[in-house]
Amino acid sequence: MLLRPLQPGDRPEMERMLAATGCFNEADRALALELIDDALEKGERSDYRFICAEGKKRLAGYACFGKIPLTEASYDLYWIVVDPAAKGQGLGRRLLEAASEECLAQGGRHLYAETSSTPAYAAARAFYEATGFELVSQLTGFYAPGNDKLIYSKRLA
Ligand SMILES: CC(C)(COP(=O)(O)OP(=O)(O)OC[C@H]1O[C@@H](n2cnc3c(N)ncnc32)[C@H](O)[C@@H]1OP(=O)(O)O)[C@@H](O)C(=O)NCCC(=O)NCCS
Repeated sequence: MLLRPLQPGDRPEMERMLAATGCFNEADRALALELIDDALEKGERSDYRFICAEGKKRLAGYACFGKIPLTEASYDLYWIVVDPAAKGQGLGRRLLEAASEECLAQGGRHLYAETSSTPAYAAARAFYEATGFELVSQLTGFYAPGNDKLIYSKRLA
Protein backbone atom coordinates (compact mmCIF):
# COMPACT_ATOMS: atom_id res chain seq x y z
CA MET A 1 0.00 0.00 0.00
CA LEU A 2 1.50 3.30 -1.10
CA LEU A 3 1.32 6.24 1.33
CA ARG A 4 1.41 9.58 -0.45
CA PRO A 5 0.19 13.21 -0.20
CA LEU A 6 -3.32 14.31 -1.18
CA GLN A 7 -4.03 14.71 -4.90
CA PRO A 8 -6.93 16.63 -6.52
CA GLY A 9 -8.51 13.44 -7.93
CA ASP A 10 -8.80 11.89 -4.42
CA ARG A 11 -11.84 13.87 -3.27
CA PRO A 12 -14.60 11.60 -4.65
CA GLU A 13 -12.91 8.51 -3.20
CA MET A 14 -12.53 10.19 0.18
CA GLU A 15 -16.19 11.16 0.12
CA ARG A 16 -17.08 7.54 -0.67
CA MET A 17 -14.94 6.23 2.19
CA LEU A 18 -16.38 8.69 4.70
CA ALA A 19 -19.87 7.42 3.85
CA ALA A 20 -18.80 3.76 3.74
CA THR A 21 -17.53 3.74 7.35
CA GLY A 22 -21.14 4.25 8.49
CA CYS A 23 -20.09 6.17 11.59
CA PHE A 24 -20.02 9.77 10.34
CA ASN A 25 -23.28 11.72 10.04
CA GLU A 26 -23.94 14.25 7.29
CA ALA A 27 -22.50 17.17 9.30
CA ASP A 28 -19.34 15.18 10.14
CA ARG A 29 -18.85 14.32 6.48
CA ALA A 30 -19.41 17.92 5.36
CA LEU A 31 -16.76 19.08 7.84
CA ALA A 32 -14.32 16.40 6.70
CA LEU A 33 -14.82 17.54 3.09
CA GLU A 34 -14.23 21.17 4.09
CA LEU A 35 -10.78 20.22 5.39
CA ILE A 36 -10.03 18.33 2.17
CA ASP A 37 -11.14 21.31 0.07
CA ASP A 38 -9.06 23.69 2.17
CA ALA A 39 -5.95 21.57 1.61
CA LEU A 40 -6.66 21.18 -2.12
CA GLU A 41 -7.17 24.91 -2.50
CA LYS A 42 -4.36 26.26 -0.32
CA GLY A 43 -1.75 23.49 -0.55
CA GLU A 44 1.16 24.23 1.81
CA ARG A 45 -0.66 27.29 3.18
CA SER A 46 -3.46 25.10 4.56
CA ASP A 47 -3.51 24.18 8.28
CA TYR A 48 -4.44 20.62 7.25
CA ARG A 49 -2.00 17.97 6.09
CA PHE A 50 -3.10 14.71 4.49
CA ILE A 51 -1.52 11.32 4.01
CA CYS A 52 -3.44 9.03 1.65
CA ALA A 53 -3.11 5.27 1.28
CA GLU A 54 -3.44 4.12 -2.29
CA GLY A 55 -4.63 0.54 -2.80
CA LYS A 56 -4.47 -1.39 -6.09
CA LYS A 57 -7.79 -0.14 -7.38
CA ARG A 58 -8.75 2.73 -5.14
CA LEU A 59 -7.96 4.77 -2.07
CA ALA A 60 -7.90 2.63 1.08
CA GLY A 61 -7.59 5.27 3.78
CA TYR A 62 -6.32 8.64 4.83
CA ALA A 63 -5.15 10.65 7.82
CA CYS A 64 -5.67 14.39 8.23
CA PHE A 65 -3.69 16.28 10.85
CA GLY A 66 -2.18 19.67 11.56
CA LYS A 67 -0.71 22.02 14.11
CA ILE A 68 -3.29 23.40 16.50
CA PRO A 69 -3.40 27.20 16.15
CA LEU A 70 -2.07 29.18 19.15
CA THR A 71 -0.06 26.22 20.48
CA GLU A 72 3.71 25.80 20.40
CA ALA A 73 3.98 22.14 19.46
CA SER A 74 0.55 20.49 19.72
CA TYR A 75 -0.95 18.69 16.73
CA ASP A 76 -4.43 17.35 16.11
CA LEU A 77 -5.22 14.14 14.31
CA TYR A 78 -8.41 15.54 12.81
CA TRP A 79 -9.53 12.39 10.97
CA ILE A 80 -8.24 8.93 10.35
CA VAL A 81 -10.29 6.74 8.06
CA VAL A 82 -9.74 3.26 6.68
CA ASP A 83 -12.02 1.82 4.04
CA PRO A 84 -14.15 -0.97 5.59
CA ALA A 85 -12.69 -3.38 3.01
CA ALA A 86 -9.16 -2.66 4.29
CA LYS A 87 -9.85 -2.56 8.05
CA GLY A 88 -8.00 -4.67 10.59
CA GLN A 89 -4.86 -5.11 8.49
CA GLY A 90 -2.63 -2.52 10.11
CA LEU A 91 -3.33 0.33 7.70
CA GLY A 92 -4.68 2.67 10.39
CA ARG A 93 -1.52 2.07 12.40
CA ARG A 94 0.67 2.82 9.35
CA LEU A 95 -1.22 6.03 8.61
CA LEU A 96 -0.93 7.10 12.24
CA GLU A 97 2.81 6.35 12.31
CA ALA A 98 3.37 8.33 9.11
CA ALA A 99 1.34 11.26 10.47
CA SER A 100 3.20 11.13 13.82
CA GLU A 101 6.56 11.16 12.01
CA GLU A 102 5.54 14.20 10.01
CA CYS A 103 4.32 16.03 13.13
CA LEU A 104 7.57 15.19 14.89
CA ALA A 105 9.61 16.38 11.90
CA GLN A 106 7.70 19.69 12.07
CA GLY A 107 8.60 20.03 15.77
CA GLY A 108 5.41 18.56 17.26
CA ARG A 109 5.54 17.23 20.82
CA HIS A 110 1.94 16.18 21.46
CA LEU A 111 -0.66 14.60 19.20
CA TYR A 112 -4.33 14.82 20.15
CA ALA A 113 -7.33 12.87 18.87
CA GLU A 114 -10.94 13.48 19.76
CA THR A 115 -13.72 10.99 19.46
CA SER A 116 -17.11 10.11 20.85
CA SER A 117 -18.18 7.70 23.60
CA THR A 118 -20.96 6.13 21.48
CA PRO A 119 -20.89 2.52 20.19
CA ALA A 120 -20.27 3.75 16.61
CA TYR A 121 -16.80 4.86 17.73
CA ALA A 122 -15.80 1.71 19.63
CA ALA A 123 -13.27 0.82 16.91
CA ALA A 124 -11.78 4.31 17.08
CA ARG A 125 -11.39 4.10 20.88
CA ALA A 126 -9.83 0.63 20.67
CA PHE A 127 -7.53 1.89 17.94
CA TYR A 128 -6.29 4.89 19.95
CA GLU A 129 -5.79 2.76 23.05
CA ALA A 130 -3.82 0.17 21.04
CA THR A 131 -1.58 2.76 19.42
CA GLY A 132 -0.16 4.57 22.43
CA PHE A 133 -2.78 7.23 23.09
CA GLU A 134 -3.98 7.94 26.60
CA LEU A 135 -7.46 9.15 27.46
CA VAL A 136 -6.83 12.56 29.04
CA SER A 137 -10.30 14.07 29.18
CA GLN A 138 -13.95 13.09 29.00
CA LEU A 139 -16.51 15.85 28.52
CA THR A 140 -19.81 14.41 29.66
CA GLY A 141 -22.77 15.14 27.36
CA PHE A 142 -20.59 17.33 25.12
CA TYR A 143 -22.06 16.27 21.77
CA ALA A 144 -25.49 15.30 23.12
CA PRO A 145 -26.93 13.64 26.24
CA GLY A 146 -25.18 10.26 26.50
CA ASN A 147 -22.63 11.25 23.85
CA ASP A 148 -19.40 12.38 25.53
CA LYS A 149 -16.37 13.90 23.89
CA LEU A 150 -13.21 11.89 24.60
CA ILE A 151 -9.81 13.50 24.20
CA TYR A 152 -6.84 11.21 23.67
CA SER A 153 -3.25 12.35 23.76
CA LYS A 154 0.04 10.84 22.71
CA ARG A 155 3.49 12.21 23.42
CA LEU A 156 5.63 12.47 20.28
CA ALA A 157 8.85 13.69 21.83
C1 LIG B 1 -10.29 3.36 13.61
C2 LIG B 1 -9.73 2.86 12.26
C3 LIG B 1 -9.01 4.02 11.55
C4 LIG B 1 -8.72 1.73 12.55
O1 LIG B 1 -8.10 1.35 11.32
P1 LIG B 1 -7.56 -0.13 11.05
O2 LIG B 1 -6.73 -0.10 9.82
O3 LIG B 1 -8.70 -1.08 11.07
O4 LIG B 1 -6.65 -0.39 12.34
P2 LIG B 1 -5.36 -1.31 12.44
O5 LIG B 1 -5.61 -2.58 11.69
O6 LIG B 1 -4.15 -0.53 12.06
O7 LIG B 1 -5.33 -1.63 13.99
C5 LIG B 1 -4.39 -1.08 14.88
C6 LIG B 1 -4.74 -1.51 16.30
O8 LIG B 1 -6.01 -0.96 16.68
C7 LIG B 1 -6.85 -1.95 17.28
N1 LIG B 1 -8.16 -1.96 16.63
C8 LIG B 1 -8.47 -1.44 15.43
N2 LIG B 1 -9.79 -1.63 15.17
C9 LIG B 1 -10.29 -2.32 16.23
C10 LIG B 1 -11.58 -2.82 16.55
N3 LIG B 1 -12.62 -2.68 15.71
N4 LIG B 1 -11.75 -3.45 17.73
C11 LIG B 1 -10.70 -3.63 18.60
N5 LIG B 1 -9.45 -3.18 18.33
C12 LIG B 1 -9.25 -2.53 17.17
C13 LIG B 1 -6.21 -3.30 17.10
O9 LIG B 1 -6.01 -3.82 18.40
C14 LIG B 1 -4.89 -3.04 16.42
O10 LIG B 1 -3.87 -3.45 17.29
P3 LIG B 1 -2.78 -4.52 16.81
O11 LIG B 1 -2.01 -3.81 15.72
O12 LIG B 1 -1.98 -4.72 18.04
O13 LIG B 1 -3.53 -5.70 16.32
C15 LIG B 1 -10.86 2.28 11.37
O14 LIG B 1 -11.59 1.33 12.09
C16 LIG B 1 -11.84 3.32 10.83
O15 LIG B 1 -11.63 3.92 9.79
N6 LIG B 1 -12.97 3.53 11.56
C17 LIG B 1 -14.00 4.45 11.11
C18 LIG B 1 -13.54 5.89 11.16
C19 LIG B 1 -13.17 6.34 12.55
O16 LIG B 1 -13.83 6.04 13.53
N7 LIG B 1 -12.08 7.12 12.64
C20 LIG B 1 -11.58 7.66 13.90
C21 LIG B 1 -12.27 8.91 14.28
S1 LIG B 1 -11.98 10.22 13.11
